[in-house]
Amino acid sequence: MRSMLVPGKATCILGAQFGDEGKGKFVDLLAQDADLVCRVQGGNNAGHTIWVSGRKVVTHLLPSGVLHPQCEVAIGAGVVVDPLVLRDEILRLKEQGFDLAPERVHIDFRATAILPAHKAQDLKREFERSQSGTAIGTTGRGIGPAYASRAHRDAPRLGECISPGYLEHFAQSGHPLAEGLTPETLAETMEACQFLRPYLKDVAMLVHNRLNDGARVMIEGAQGGLLDVAYGTYPYVTSSNLVAGSCPGGIGMPPTKVANIIGVTKAYATRVGHGPFPGELTGALEEGIRERGHEFGSTTGRSRRIGWLDLVALRYMACVNGYQSLALMKSDVLSGLTDIGLVTAYKDKRTGELMNGWPMTAVAWENIEPVIEFAQGWQQVVDSKNNLDPVCEQFVQRIENWIGVPVSYVSTGAERLEGVWRNVR
Ligand code: IMP
Repeated sequence: MRSMLVPGKATCILGAQFGDEGKGKFVDLLAQDADLVCRVQGGNNAGHTIWVSGRKVVTHLLPSGVLHPQCEVAIGAGVVVDPLVLRDEILRLKEQGFDLAPERVHIDFRATAILPAHKAQDLKREFERSQSGTAIGTTGRGIGPAYASRAHRDAPRLGECISPGYLEHFAQSGHPLAEGLTPETLAETMEACQFLRPYLKDVAMLVHNRLNDGARVMIEGAQGGLLDVAYGTYPYVTSSNLVAGSCPGGIGMPPTKVANIIGVTKAYATRVGHGPFPGELTGALEEGIRERGHEFGSTTGRSRRIGWLDLVALRYMACVNGYQSLALMKSDVLSGLTDIGLVTAYKDKRTGELMNGWPMTAVAWENIEPVIEFAQGWQQVVDSKNNLDPVCEQFVQRIENWIGVPVSYVSTGAERLEGVWRNVR
């Protein structure tokens, strides 16, 4: 697996579904051999869960690489950062015994700050949408409003927030984003920003220098391609670009430095929040998979919707992202099922006709009916020698043939060491 990380180059690990694919575990696994792991987009809408020796560690803003002492971590200018959340996360991980020294944790001055007004706007907008039945089901963390105000060139960035007198002045300025900066929240925000001060750097230049020194760099995607603001199931998406092409920009790295792009998918599908979900399950099957897979959001605790693996979407994501290999997570959760569904085509439910190509409009998404084929299930995903069950192996090969991308890793349990490498030295 060391061969997946190339000295002086970057490897992108990207969610190929609606987020929550198990990227945290996969990144954590590869991070053993990495020198630097970077977050490039999103914010604390993400939640990465890693199980280490029976201990659950969750990160929202820091990349999963932070759990490996030899690995530096970076948050790029493309990320939206709630200063209080990041400060608390650093303190929590420190308490758990991890090294969070500013020498190994780098945050770009230019990351956009999430302010109380962004969170209030997010909740208000969601409430308004819910009145007309069009709520997105956002995480309520202020992500969309923060990106919108960056696009409007209104939002302060972390670099501004640590400048002497800046936030006090901003709070008095009558600026719409100053709303919610009460004396109390202003003091808290200023304190959190000052805490972050030693971590703030020119991360683009730092990454440039590390790559020149031969570092093995990883980009840890947040969310998943189907939530990309341009290529996902718009408008039921997040507010950033998540596709491979946008990742280097989020940290200030030239695209020519990306050597490897790996898509991460579960053996089934989940979605949090509203929006189209071909292959969605209901009833006992849905509940059983949710329980076995612990499919409750690590950020909001919401129950995740459950569905069969969607090969149509995975193939489209493979085209848009250029995955060179796939990691298939949580195959153990399906153990014991007699039949396992796979979405292999979309029909237009108004006409009953097979759809040609990818749905391009919200109306097209609303009218999708999935065509589902069934594969044989397996009892135990691995034998006592950690060989993949032959029936599961057939399932994996079926995915590879469909997508035209090799599966390099099959996760067979939550713990770091539960998994099988394929096609990898
Ligand atoms: P937002 O990113 O909070 O604006 O939420 C927009 C949509 O993306 C909602 O459906 C969220 O549930 C979903 N979402 C955002 N972040 C994640 C994630 O990390 N995992 C899964 N879904 C996410």
